[in-house]
Amino acid sequence: MDVRNDMLKRVKNRREGYSLDQAFYTDPEYFRLDLDLIWYRDWLFVGHDCEVARAGSFFTVQVGDYPVVILRDSDGQIRAFHNSCRHRGSRVCTEHRGSSARLVCPYHQWTYDLDGSLLYARQMAEDFDKSQFSLKPVACESVAGYIFICLAEKPAEFAPFAQLMQPYFAPHRLTEAKVAFESTIIEKGNWKLVWENNRECYHCAGNHPELCKTYPEAPTVTGVAGGDEDPDLTEHWTRLEAGGLPSRFRMHESGQFRACRTPLIGDAVSYTISGRPAVQERLSAEVSQERIGALLLFHYPTTWNHVLGDHAVTFRVLPISATETAVTTKWLVNKDAVEGVDYDLDTLTHVWMQTNDQDRRIVEENAFGIKSPAYEPGPYSELHEGGVMQFVDWYCRSVETRLTEGGKSLRSVA
Ligand code: FES
Ligand SMILES: [Fe+2]
Repeated sequence: MDVRNDMLKRVKNRREGYSLDQAFYTDPEYFRLDLDLIWYRDWLFVGHDCEVARAGSFFTVQVGDYPVVILRDSDGQIRAFHNSCRHRGSRVCTEHRGSSARLVCPYHQWTYDLDGSLLYARQMAEDFDKSQFSLKPVACESVAGYIFICLAEKPAEFAPFAQLMQPYFAPHRLTEAKVAFESTIIEKGNWKLVWENNRECYHCAGNHPELCKTYPEAPTVTGVAGGDEDPDLTEHWTRLEAGGLPSRFRMHESGQFRACRTPLIGDAVSYTISGRPAVQERLSAEVSQERIGALLLFHYPTTWNHVLGDHAVTFRVLPISATETAVTTKWLVNKDAVEGVDYDLDTLTHVWMQTNDQDRRIVEENAFGIKSPAYEPGPYSELHEGGVMQFVDWYCRSVETRLTEGGKSLRSVA
């Protein structure tokens, strides 16, 4: 049986409320299918507007086999291109990030304008038509300081996401913030394990002593049930919305993204050991309420986020192989905040540096155990792991729909 049919069969026969079969977490062929069915089709968070603050600023990202460059052009527009030269395919931008008035391919110096058009190609034939060899564009959208790309030829609508998240995020002015620190770790586990771990706080008490000083492990806070039955949450929302800050739990009907503002423990206002602000300057002058808690956003399959009064922590997940995932964390602060004066970098990053490393170990142990021939799917906790079930349901629904589209999956039964 070919791998598409194999995956389809397993998705259809899976036991709901249980973790997935081993192949979903370990098999390289399943990983290729995940790339085709999810990563090459969905909108992916790649970075922030403030990382391409000026014309010519760029950063690069690798999604499966696709190298992509994201830049700001001379008109101020944020664009994305396939980072593959139209001459013989070399990567054009080889740096992780940089700034350049033009994109010059290092191989034979074909030179592209920031709008992707080919400006110069040395010593080509007289009738060579440069206009036919622009860099290929990648769909690119930015909302409230977040840049998303989509590799699909016909991307799904971006508007439903923008409409849901924009009112929640725009007041925090992440478009104008700055990245105070960035860290990328490689977790030796499948990207779905990284997500499953993120979508519950069942593991928090036993693993995250630093985070648990400020972040409540209540299932209503992490979960996806809406939270209306939790008086702490509803009180928080009512107070903040009265002050003009959208806060209530909202999830798109597809289950792919959710925004919600949750309280921190007691009087805590930031992810510090003391709960006190890590940054003296507020992230946004527009948000002056006290104890706003954390504005949480997830958008499958690439990002989860926490926006606080004094800083934001944003996360990007990118798959590397069936058993390796890159997780990039960025700490954003007010662009005028000065390191060493308005904030101390270690105080700012300590809790999540520790938490990320703890999560890495958890994910790696999970992956290790799943490799065992003795592994079989086990039951999620209904009380604590509703978010995990919701993620797995979204994943299974997505792959099932896409595997059956056009009946392609049934063509080649071995
Ligand atoms: S491959 Fe880019 S200039 Fe030749
Ligand atoms: Fe964790």
